[in-house]
Amino acid sequence: MTEGNPSMNMLKTSMAKMDLTKRPAEHELDPIEICSRDELTAIQTRRMKWSVRHAYENVEHYRKKCDDKGIHPRDFKELADLRHFPTTSKADLRDTYPYGMFAVPMDEVVRIHASSGTTGKPTVVGYTASDIQMWSRVMARSIRAAGGRRNMKVHISYGYGLFTGGLGAHYGAEALGCTVIPMSGGQTEKQVALIRDFQPEIIMVTPSYMLVMADEMERQGMNPRDCSLKIGIFGAEPWTNDMRLEIEERLGIDAIDIYGLSEVIGPGVGIECIESKDGLTIWEDHFYPEIINPETGEPVPDGEIGELVFTSLTKEAMPVIRYRTRDLTRLLPGTARTMRRIEKITGRSDDMLIIRGVNVFPTQIEELILKDSRLAPHYQLVVSRQGHLDALKVRVEMRTPDMPRAACEAAGKELAHHIKSFIGVSAVVDVEPHGAIERSQGKAKRIIDLRKEA
Ligand code: DLL
Repeated sequence: MTEGNPSMNMLKTSMAKMDLTKRPAEHELDPIEICSRDELTAIQTRRMKWSVRHAYENVEHYRKKCDDKGIHPRDFKELADLRHFPTTSKADLRDTYPYGMFAVPMDEVVRIHASSGTTGKPTVVGYTASDIQMWSRVMARSIRAAGGRRNMKVHISYGYGLFTGGLGAHYGAEALGCTVIPMSGGQTEKQVALIRDFQPEIIMVTPSYMLVMADEMERQGMNPRDCSLKIGIFGAEPWTNDMRLEIEERLGIDAIDIYGLSEVIGPGVGIECIESKDGLTIWEDHFYPEIINPETGEPVPDGEIGELVFTSLTKEAMPVIRYRTRDLTRLLPGTARTMRRIEKITGRSDDMLIIRGVNVFPTQIEELILKDSRLAPHYQLVVSRQGHLDALKVRVEMRTPDMPRAACEAAGKELAHHIKSFIGVSAVVDVEPHGAIERSQGKAKRIIDLRKEA
């Protein structure tokens, strides 16, 4: 790359902010992590040609969608041609339940995962042996980007089973050469006892469950800052930078954001690099990202917010072409790696509440709660219908059990005021006693929508 290349200048500016002491040495990285953008584009183009053809030739549902749109894999010549192909959504997976999106015979499928979904049938995904190997490699790459090294002990509290979190993290940590403690979710008391006894350096868990564990550490008389953990690899649900600071401060660790979804592979589609913590690097050599306008479906330029869409480049058992994630973010140029980044995810389009015409994401409320030291970082949004109007109640807790009633009321009033002035909606804030809000052992349930239940 030349001096005048704008992406190089971008790299230089943000390099200044990076903590180079935490950066893996060049020889520790996969060469592709730091190849040139041109090399990456060449690999992506070659792989995408294969992937689009593989899906077309082996999945009847894709073939029909392409034929209906009058597009054929031979029309794909360069990455810009991808926009002409049809998108895929969760509905396509449901319509072909359970195995209709598989592109290989069942005897080549060595693993199945499924995401529960809140309604109806789960979405089922499948892996060949080589898919599992690729997933393990990108997960190993992810854990290394988060600061993990071989010989470290990794405590995994993502659920094992049909959810991709536990096994995805497990195979990746092993591939990197770490010692895995496959604890899975739940049994909080035991989680804490094992952390104390086994002394892991890394924990992989949802950020909301990490907070539950920190509370349990305190209950057992431990100072969370004194535990052996140095790095937390947190994902599977939206969480804000304020939540990062809360967790880092409370446990004295680096908190790193990891992203993924079952339909694309599981965890490890992207991760933050510990040296920059400036958004999540997408492993674009396997998962090609686009951002589209969720209403029109048209691609938007890098830098603009919209819905994240992925095309798998190397997946055999269940290739996905232009899979609509419903996650909202934007694409940014690479900094710590050649690959592009996404900004921390604001939320999912299906988690967006429209309260009296104003769009509200739980993460916006989370930011405001965490700015007030009197309030605990546990919350839930309850939406109901009062007459013809939507009403929002924010349930939140006081940080300490012995907070005087008057102080709670004052904190609640202030939060309601901030929600009105920063987000633009009126909300009733209920400051409840410490422990009143249901804790998660996996993905936190932030929204209770009584309108749907009515
Ligand atoms: O949650 C995979 C995963 C496991 C990712 C462990 C990270 C760590 P699904 O159950 O299919 O897969 O849910 C995928 O979760 O579309 C996002 O809406 C949300 N999500 C996942 N990671 C993040 C993140 C796993 N870091 C859905 N930030 C995705 C925000 C996330 N949302």
